[in-house]
Amino acid sequence: MAKKESRRVLIVHGPNLDRLGSREKDIYGDLTLGEIDEDIRNTAEKLGVTVEIFQSNSEGDLVAKINSAGGAHDFLIINPAAYTHSSHAIRDAIAASKLPAIEVHLSNVGSRETFRRSSAVAPACVGAIAGFGVFSYLLALEMAVTMLESNDE
Ligand code: DQA
Repeated sequence: MAKKESRRVLIVHGPNLDRLGSREKDIYGDLTLGEIDEDIRNTAEKLGVTVEIFQSNSEGDLVAKINSAGGAHDFLIINPAAYTHSSHAIRDAIAASKLPAIEVHLSNVGSRETFRRSSAVAPACVGAIAGFGVFSYLLALEMAVTMLESNDE
């Protein structure tokens, strides 16, 4: 079993996710980001993992946060939102952090517009979960714990 203190997960939300709850509800659902964060925190507590949650609309701030995450966290769960499809800077920051990372999306990006089907960050991630609303984050958290536990064996 992994030691609790070795399960520190950074959750990063990208641009416009602060508008959830009013933004394109038919695609992203009714939950606000605050409600999603509450679900993440409740699940983290059940799983015995520490989470820090960060949201920014700025690519530079997202890069800076990931750059400072290396020593402070053991795992990264990131929804880069629209930056997913364009940001080589975020991809490079994830790779440089050396953190295992899971890319998450609320919506099923593979079934939407063509530009959403490609991810610039995917090469720096161990996997991706998309299409399950808040459960994309919760499933990613479970997977993070499973991977951290197996690293400690
Ligand atoms: C998103 C999908 C992106 O294509 C979009 O730009 C977002 C949200 C999602 O969680 O489904 O802002 O990352």
